[in-house]
Amino acid sequence: MKRAAILGTGSCLPKRTLTNAELEKMVETSDEWITVRTGIKERRIAGAGEETSKLASGAARKAMAMAGVGAEEIGLIIVGTMTCEKVMPSCACLVQKEIGAVNAFALDINAACSGFLYGMDVAEKYIKADPALKVLVIGAENLSARTNWEDRSTCILFGDGAGAVVMGGGEGERGILGSRLFADGSLWHLLHMDAAPSLNPDLVPVDYHGPFIRMAGQEVFKYAVRAMQDGVVKVLAQEDVAPESVKLVIPHQANIRILNSLTGRLGISAEKIYINVHKYGNTSAASMPIALDEANREGRLQPGDLVLFCAFGGGFTWGAAVMRW
Ligand code: COA
Repeated sequence: MKRAAILGTGSCLPKRTLTNAELEKMVETSDEWITVRTGIKERRIAGAGEETSKLASGAARKAMAMAGVGAEEIGLIIVGTMTCEKVMPSCACLVQKEIGAVNAFALDINAACSGFLYGMDVAEKYIKADPALKVLVIGAENLSARTNWEDRSTCILFGDGAGAVVMGGGEGERGILGSRLFADGSLWHLLHMDAAPSLNPDLVPVDYHGPFIRMAGQEVFKYAVRAMQDGVVKVLAQEDVAPESVKLVIPHQANIRILNSLTGRLGISAEKIYINVHKYGNTSAASMPIALDEANREGRLQPGDLVLFCAFGGGFTWGAAVMRW
């Protein structure tokens, strides 16, 4: 049976860059504090014409061009997002219209920062059932719209952007070897974002503080480190892959300290962990496909390489996947 492989990658970032120096003028913070605690130097902020579905469509077009797959050939569109400009229809339906993928069915996945990893896993199941199917898996976010710009503990962390892959049945040994996904909804309160207030007055929560990302930073940090490590250990054991045979790790880009913690206990050397969090901050579901596209275009991936993906996000959700490129 053919494995589900990545046939092309693409990404699309807003034009505007917001630097740490600019943030220093907005809240009481410093470039040094942000750099030491997070590794982030700047992030992109969406403007007019750069809504989530537009960024997603831009990334999708680039991935399709690389894969040599036309819009009519796409059979399924999956978008990992929690910040589409519309609640209905789905971001995936907006992308379908934008790129003209008239033969696709379309759905969103909300698994916060794990949305792209969850999306790849769902795509894999469809492709195993029909290896001729071409699936667009996209991660796209406009987190700046849900950031409280007066809260220095969160506003320094997030950014906007989109990344995409085209997946389909791979040649030979190429494709996803295996994946492991997890969730723990009992910890939702540590990292969450309320929806817009209910129009039913009886259903407005008493503790509603606006539709912003809220986070217990230190607890999230500790859990993220443990969970990402646990996901990686489990998927490598499941697929009988030695850590040292992994060629490149594409992790969710939340924080440089979380990424550095992946090296020590896992036996994966630091230079194998792809990092671009300094340029874009945490773009949630978009961060892994943006990182993958940059690594791919930089020539960091060669046929046959073992690539490891790992993510953690609100929910909590987390997991890991291993793929032969
Ligand atoms: N600039 C300067 N000082 C800041 C600040 C900022 N942007 N944000 C918070 N501080 C202050 C706090 O008010 C606190 O001050 P106090 O000691 O006077 O009370 C101090 O810095 C330490 O705050 P704390 O929250 O303990 O910092 P931290 O070391 O935990 O770092 C995070 C904060 C958010 C960087 C860190 O907890 C983190 O990375 N968490 C994970 C976040 C994440 O990745 N979430 C998404 C997962 S998908």
